[in-house]
Amino acid sequence: MPDAFALAETLAKHGQGHLLQTVAGLDEAARAAFLARLGEIDWAEFEHPAEPPAVGDVGASRVIPLAERAQRQSELEGAGEAAYRAGQVAVLMVAGGQGTRLGSSAPKGCFRIAAHSGKSIYQLQAEKVLSLSRRVGRDVPFLVMTSPMTDGETREFFQAHGDFGLKAGQVRFFSQGTVPSLDQQGRALLAGPGRLLENPDGHGGCFTALVKSGNLARLRREGVRQLVYIQVDNVTAPVDDAALIGLAMLEQAEVVTKVLAKAHPDEKVGHLVRVGGSDRIIEYTEVTPEQARSRNAAGELIYRWGSPAMHCWSVEFLARLTDQGYKIPLHRSSKPLKAWADGALSEVKGWKSERFIFDLIPEAKASLGLEIDRLAEFAPVKNADGTDGKVVADSPASAVQLASDQFAGWLAAAGVKVALPAKARIEISPLFAATRAQFLAKWDGRVKEVSGDYYLEA
Ligand code: UTP
Repeated sequence: MPDAFALAETLAKHGQGHLLQTVAGLDEAARAAFLARLGEIDWAEFEHPAEPPAVGDVGASRVIPLAERAQRQSELEGAGEAAYRAGQVAVLMVAGGQGTRLGSSAPKGCFRIAAHSGKSIYQLQAEKVLSLSRRVGRDVPFLVMTSPMTDGETREFFQAHGDFGLKAGQVRFFSQGTVPSLDQQGRALLAGPGRLLENPDGHGGCFTALVKSGNLARLRREGVRQLVYIQVDNVTAPVDDAALIGLAMLEQAEVVTKVLAKAHPDEKVGHLVRVGGSDRIIEYTEVTPEQARSRNAAGELIYRWGSPAMHCWSVEFLARLTDQGYKIPLHRSSKPLKAWADGALSEVKGWKSERFIFDLIPEAKASLGLEIDRLAEFAPVKNADGTDGKVVADSPASAVQLASDQFAGWLAAAGVKVALPAKARIEISPLFAATRAQFLAKWDGRVKEVSGDYYLEA
């Protein structure tokens, strides 16, 4: 238990003295647990949330566009393939969010999404890792970050499905941390007597959690050098991506960030830009419409590259930052919260604080962007399906549609005539093929035409 006087002093210094007034009615065990939690928190960091950078300094990041990527394809893929086969690559999937917009109480990954098989998002992501592992002859480690709220259910879900065929030790769960939610005056709120109101600490929580859980050290011992980072809610995010890994290896980049050309200047995505000599991602909320539309001397949009939240992180980079004691800053956003006060729960307006993984980018000595084809790699599930039959953007229905369009493209590239009625969907299991190249190599011409629902399993 922390020293009571020192704790009282720290709390008072950071405007949290009110918390100690709430311990009076607690029994001994509850009081000890509450004080221990209060003592763990770095209260100072809540007083300095991250600020967006000065606008004048913003320029373009170095990005490998699709054309250059195509020219360098064999060089990049050769290097990436060698790294996969040497066991130097692992997959990191963050799955700890609260999924408020989707409106499901279960973890987002448990959501049954596939068009015909009804596979869950977790199953699709796990099968991609399994497909990759089989292809390269290695049990590629699959790190899954949960939150204290999603951890138990996620582990049970994987266990109930036999880890979707992955080997023992291949799936590695670890939980992110939580941070206190604050009222609008910056004072920590309670969830109940002796319990702080806390929220998961953002996808950036995976940096600290990887270290604390021992997973970063384990990866280093195993000789893993690159981490393919995906978010659970991007259904088509590839994990078998030799060009991405090859680029990171050949350019000795500490981070490669996948980017897509924005559909229009006001598209609501984070932007990869260069600020004062280092790359960083600036959220659309931190940019005015004038800035979003500003152009450089060559007439190109400065905020041209959108981030679909996929990266390749060098393991040594993460280890170096850990050794330096680096901590990802907190960003705060205004939210309606349910807090306990005067013996009852009520809704209050307050602040939720989160860490963003992309705040690591400016710390990288070498960083670059890799342009992707958005139709091939980006099908996010953020919002609930509509009730009027219309397809809501970034919903399960839009993701299924995007995946189906992608599979239609694979079939067409293999010479199949595809003519789908509006409601028909194609599903191809990652265990049959998880990438276009794998599909084309495997396709045996079993059908010449697809004109309705179509499902292909391994
Ligand atoms: P979002 O920012 O979309 O948040 O997360 P969310 O919690 O899933 O959904 P909303 O905003 O409550 O509706 C993007 C990705 O980051 C992960 C999510 O699981 C998702 O894959 N994430 C987010 C975490 O792992 N931890 C967090 O604390 C927040």
